[in-house]
Amino acid sequence: MTFLLAAALGYLLGSVPYGLLLTRAAGLGDIRSIGSGNIGATNVLRTGNKGLAAATLVLDAVKGLAALLIARWLWGEDAGLVAGVAAMAGHAFPVWLGFKGGKGVATGAGVLFGAAWWLGAVALGTWLAVFAVTRISSAGALAACVAAPIAALIFGDAKLAVFAAGLAALIAWRHKANIQRLLAGTEPRVGSKG
Ligand code: G3P
Repeated sequence: MTFLLAAALGYLLGSVPYGLLLTRAAGLGDIRSIGSGNIGATNVLRTGNKGLAAATLVLDAVKGLAALLIARWLWGEDAGLVAGVAAMAGHAFPVWLGFKGGKGVATGAGVLFGAAWWLGAVALGTWLAVFAVTRISSAGALAACVAAPIAALIFGDAKLAVFAAGLAALIAWRHKANIQRLLAGTEPRVGSKG
């Protein structure tokens, strides 16, 4: 029963599409018809509004972190992990948007930081390092997806390795179009007009 409650709480918190709401409130139209069509911070940045992109990044991360921490506080550690997965599902498949949501990078980072600070730090550090070299947001995200489960294995935490691999699988799947563009060499760099 507590897992069901944790899943419901996580899904509801995760399903709030901050990128869409903020850009709409700012009069920038529907973010889904701009750039990649994604509702995440990278695409909000393509509107040219850095403040809104930063706010989207923070709010998407905080909703994942909050889902995990609240559920853990109320119902224990495993319920926290359930809420984290549910927050990712809510972000990627929000009922309010016909189940067509975001790619889960910022929310996943928040969830990982809540699960274990070092796991979030590895994911964030990997994202930053790859982005610094490539200037491609999705490349950083996909590299972080590989690094997080490996780091959990190296740290000897099998449960967190499975957890991180699950989140990574969802994020990678939501990046199908990005992966195709990366392979074709057409994925836009942040700051370019692609
Ligand atoms: O956070 C999502 C990012 O990895 C890719 O975003 O808009 O370039 O598909 P986008």
